[in-house]
Amino acid sequence: MEYLIKSAVPATEIAPSSGPSDELFSAGEKSPIAALAPSLAQRAQAGSRGALDEGAAQASAFAIVGEGAGDVEAREALLDRAMGPKRRKKSSEKLRRGRRPSEGLAFVARDPSGAIVGTVRLWDVRLGEGGPAALLLGPLAVEPGLKSGGIGSALMHHAIAEAARLGHGAIVLVGDAPYYGRFGFAADRTGSLAMPGPYERHRLLALELKEGALDGAMGTIKAAGRKIKGHALGFAA
Ligand SMILES: CC(C)(COP(=O)(O)OP(=O)(O)OC[C@H]1O[C@@H](n2cnc3c(N)ncnc32)[C@H](O)[C@@H]1OP(=O)(O)O)[C@@H](O)C(=O)NCCC(=O)NCCS
Repeated sequence: MEYLIKSAVPATEIAPSSGPSDELFSAGEKSPIAALAPSLAQRAQAGSRGALDEGAAQASAFAIVGEGAGDVEAREALLDRAMGPKRRKKSSEKLRRGRRPSEGLAFVARDPSGAIVGTVRLWDVRLGEGGPAALLLGPLAVEPGLKSGGIGSALMHHAIAEAARLGHGAIVLVGDAPYYGRFGFAADRTGSLAMPGPYERHRLLALELKEGALDGAMGTIKAAGRKIKGHALGFAA
């Protein structure tokens, strides 16, 4: 899906294309624009004055596409910039470590140069021992200099729509209800669930994609994703 950042705050997102998500350019491919000008992401990372303002003036576009095999390094660097090194200590990481994201549910936002300016992935989990299958969403992160430009919302809407299209029943995450509430996530169905590590109970949120998918869900959430063969890294792929 393509989007246009029209203004910095509040963000206005326009989806001029309803075509396939890799229509703007395919994953891993650099647009010719990259040769002509530094990317929006580069300017934001360098802290150049008003990267987003400039982006707004130029009505910079971004596209939500499936993550490619060559995106791992840039995605990890973005996560470090956006969330800091402690991100790997989160209890959600226990459900991701050594696993692959759920099939077809890892997305990046790219600027017109092809640079990654946002990331979100979903992971297969089980809601309690022998409980129903669900997805864990996260981490969600946007290039720090490009916050409030609608990239996070676009990633969320795309991820939820794809998860529903693929037939998943529910998504859980640990995050701020004031942000995730706008996408339908709430803590009211997660009282009988627990993360496999320290977390703040009021931040464990869920969204049903199919009615009743969270009925009776109880216990500690378990990793259920495909394992990475020969996994040696300390973080999820
Ligand atoms: C959270 C994050 C992904 C949002 O992405 P974004 O592209 O800035 O979000 P959007 O442009 O879609 O939405 C911006 C709106 O969300 C609000 N918002 C952002 N983070 C928020 C939070 N934690 N709680 C409440 N509101 C939040 C902004 O104030 C803004 O509000 P407005 O629409 O009223 O102006 C981004 O801020 C980020 O990468 N943060 C650091 C990493 C992080 O905390 N990730 C979430 C981990 S669970």
